[in-house]
Amino acid sequence: MSWDEEFANSYDEWSAHMTDDIPFYVALARQADGPLVELAVGNGRVAIPVALATGRRVTGIDTSPAMLAQARVRAAEAGVELELIAGDMRDLALDEPAGLIYCPFRALLHLPTWADRRRVFERVAASLRPGGCFAWNAFAFDHNIAARLDGIHQEEPFPHTIRYAVGDNRVDLTLSDGSKSSLWWATKNEWLGLIDVAGLRLEALCGGFAGEPFADDSREYVFVTRL
Ligand SMILES: C[S@@+](CC[C@H](N)C(=O)[O-])C[C@H]1O[C@@H](n2cnc3c(N)ncnc32)[C@H](O)[C@@H]1O
Repeated sequence: MSWDEEFANSYDEWSAHMTDDIPFYVALARQADGPLVELAVGNGRVAIPVALATGRRVTGIDTSPAMLAQARVRAAEAGVELELIAGDMRDLALDEPAGLIYCPFRALLHLPTWADRRRVFERVAASLRPGGCFAWNAFAFDHNIAARLDGIHQEEPFPHTIRYAVGDNRVDLTLSDGSKSSLWWATKNEWLGLIDVAGLRLEALCGGFAGEPFADDSREYVFVTRL
């Protein structure tokens, strides 16, 4: 697994800076015709505002019992309905085709290989209504950031050390107790290849959540695709 359960205990700290994505995914959900599904729903950070804004149930899939437990409590506190499913996004199978499937906060990067991602994209394409939308965001690898952070212990937002394994396009975040979370970054062409093999259509690639055009110096891929 690329996600140690220990990370659930400090997830609020890890995600505190990430707020711009919520209005972006909420807007897509408002436009969507059909069920709403979040892959790697975590503690419901995005799914709960989506459910609140749309008045609709959101289905969330995640492998982490600890994150799903947090999502259950937070959804009850917010008074919204989430259908929370313990499962791997690689095995996505829905009872009813979705109008929107989305995967925020770079969670697709927890999948180690091209084969894993291809499987998810094919499962997504098989799970969407015609015209349905698949959206996600992921960071673009920045060698300047890697050079600055590699091997350096950081106290914020939670004590951890980052190591870059460039040969495996992998970054490992390790906590003081040895718990590890790994992300495998992907290039623009890898994402475009996945869209292609899954039979999806690229609607937009932006460099940020406010619709910034994607440019050479963009550091975030924000993808919107359709079946
Ligand atoms: C960075 S969190 C994102 C949570 C939430 N989507 C958000 O935006 O705050 C990553 C989540 O991915 C989940 N995850 C990792 N690999 C997964 C997989 N193969 N299938 C489903 N969930 C997975 C982890 O359990 C964790 O909850």
